[in-house]
Amino acid sequence: MVVANRLPLDDNVAPDGACEWRRSPGGLSSALHAILEQTPATWVGWAGGTGPAPELPDIGTLRIRPVALSEEELRGYYEGFANSTLWPLYHDAVEPPVFDRGWWETYRLVNRRFAAAAAEVAEPGAAVWVQDYHLQLVPRLLRELRPDLLIGFFLHVPFPPPELFMQLPRRVELLRGMLGADLVGFQRPQAAHNIAQLATKLLGAVATDDEIVLDGRVVRIGSFPVSIDMAEMHTLTTRPDVVQHARQLRRALGYPRRVLLSVDRLDYTKGIEHRLTAYHELLRDGQLTVDETAVIQVAVPSRERLDSYRALRDRIEGDVGRINGEYGRVGGPAIHYLNQPFDRASLTALYLTADVMVVTPLRDGMNLVAKEYVAAREDGTGALVLSEFAGAAAELEDAFLVNPHDVDGLKETLLRAMHARPDDLAARMRAMREHLRTHDILAWARACLTALDQSGKLADRIPRQLSRTEAPV
Ligand code: ADP
Ligand code: G6P
Repeated sequence: MVVANRLPLDDNVAPDGACEWRRSPGGLSSALHAILEQTPATWVGWAGGTGPAPELPDIGTLRIRPVALSEEELRGYYEGFANSTLWPLYHDAVEPPVFDRGWWETYRLVNRRFAAAAAEVAEPGAAVWVQDYHLQLVPRLLRELRPDLLIGFFLHVPFPPPELFMQLPRRVELLRGMLGADLVGFQRPQAAHNIAQLATKLLGAVATDDEIVLDGRVVRIGSFPVSIDMAEMHTLTTRPDVVQHARQLRRALGYPRRVLLSVDRLDYTKGIEHRLTAYHELLRDGQLTVDETAVIQVAVPSRERLDSYRALRDRIEGDVGRINGEYGRVGGPAIHYLNQPFDRASLTALYLTADVMVVTPLRDGMNLVAKEYVAAREDGTGALVLSEFAGAAAELEDAFLVNPHDVDGLKETLLRAMHARPDDLAARMRAMREHLRTHDILAWARACLTALDQSGKLADRIPRQLSRTEAPV
């Protein structure tokens, strides 16, 4: 069973009642899709609106158990505590976190509701996989309700160093909540180190970077870098319509010498403004010209009711407008800005079109876009410019790594990637692809489940596709 804030469903159920995976933009939904698509499992989550929970059909073998949120709960729990307190704080406070005492009670209440829903439908002895910062109290609440369950918790975002986490007014409860799990997984080893330090300091627990002993119970901790579905990417990149779409895109761009691409949720953690500054200066200095280089920025709408996100969108659109006004020409904007969702095939066509993929978040738990680009480049061409502050940088060491706060360094790295020799690019791409081949999403799920199921109780229930050793590439 998966318990995650958001259900991966399309908001529009088709007239015949059929329901499709929504593949909402976001790493969590992308990652879990590959594993759960053909698995008898239940997903407990929120369907996206407010008011009574909608009736939702199963998706193949996946049962859906919606959790309702009222308008007030949406504000206090999702927009408030989860996305205005925890999200910015966990991302190095790149935007100041808001501490509003009213939100905490709602966060706790909604976490109780998710725990109760999971407790109600979980089979005896089931493995329950609780996801992300929205539901940090669920592991402990669920253990109280159902001590028979095996409970895993996975945090998709960074877990901050003690000096940041210590700012949280409800830090002890949040920590105890997570540590109600049998296994707590993170993207990076540093996060496990951070929680071990905090458990010692705040709870008086005995902790190493592998386990925390709290109230006589052992909680295992560790890093499990999330990844992508290599098999799905292979299918997409070799589909004739996708290859054809990529060719059309290049034609529509006027056959530029180079195409630079970025794909992000429109979020202040993604470093979009720093990137636009770098492009602006490169255009100003003549190091980038609109005739030779097409720049595409896909910025998917995200959390649009929040002021911080709306303000960011205004700033970005102002920047893009200014840059296009100054450097664009008729039929050739300096920046192709797309504020819209894309289906998987169109996204893959964009990856195939891009000579340089520019992924420069200020802080990111992992960043699956970077991995998807590498997966799409089966012919070994293409350059990845990647922020040191994305979890993916620890694995994709052969990317052109960059500190996105350093705009001069960013400009220099962009130029280096644009002008790199093909044999250098091929060697880098080969090494990164080799890593992903053995570290795909199935390997991630297998590692998490094996760590959770130390006693082997679940062995016969582990989904068949997770026993594969390698994704076909
Ligand atoms: P985050 O989880 O912060 O959004 P990731 O890069 O880890 O960042 O995950 C983003 C996921 O959303 C990727 O799987 C990507 O393919 C998907 N995605 C990004 N942009 C779009 C878009 N415009 N339309 C649909 N899916 C998108
Ligand atoms: C990140 C978070 C996910 C979240 C996704 C999209 O990937 O880690 O938990 O689902 O962003 O954000 P949203 O607020 O639309 O669910």
